[in-house]
Amino acid sequence: MNQPTRFSSFTTPHKGIRNFLSQLTVQAGSSDYTDAQEMAMLQERLEEAMELLEEHAQVENEIVLAALEERAPGSGAHDQEGHRRLHQMQDMLLAKMKAITATGISPEEATRLGSELYQGIGLLFAEHLEHMAEEETATQNLLWQHFTDAELLQVQGRIISSMKPDLLLKWWAYILPAQSHTERVKLMAGLHSSTPASFFEQVLGVVQKNLSAPAYEKLLAALAVPA
Ligand SMILES: [Fe+2]
Repeated sequence: MNQPTRFSSFTTPHKGIRNFLSQLTVQAGSSDYTDAQEMAMLQERLEEAMELLEEHAQVENEIVLAALEERAPGSGAHDQEGHRRLHQMQDMLLAKMKAITATGISPEEATRLGSELYQGIGLLFAEHLEHMAEEETATQNLLWQHFTDAELLQVQGRIISSMKPDLLLKWWAYILPAQSHTERVKLMAGLHSSTPASFFEQVLGVVQKNLSAPAYEKLLAALAVPA
């Protein structure tokens, strides 16, 4: 069922996930696993990515799939099973990162574990790509069958209001640069009218840090916000 004019529940956050998993993959592939400073930076990025993935699966389970289960019992089971499998893979990657940064590890062992970590991140990325594509098609079609767009927007509102500002800022830093200009303007205009000015300024700050200068200027012009 192709209904491009209807509200899509997954497209916006999933673009953010594709963004940070791409960045994590490149960083893991280009890191020197014998360099303590580079390992601290990789560990920070890996832990942030895993935190966002865990949080995303949790809100999907507890809000989106829970709502779907109420109207179509059993229809959320496949995605929930996917989340369990992804969680196990994510835990294994965190454990491997911990082993790489353990005191006294030899450079040879760190490099060997680093190759395994890089492969593991690639496999996790592949699993997420397949999982997200299923949610964006099969699960989205189920949501369209059982919910109106107004109801789906209410579900989205519950997700956003369940997040603390710090977590939201982490998400916006990856989500907003990954959108097209038109999508970005729509999201930012919505934020401008629905959040306190101080929070909107913080979001603008993370967008500026993660967007090219021309794209940022184009955004400000569309929002009619002074540079
Ligand atoms: Fe999911």
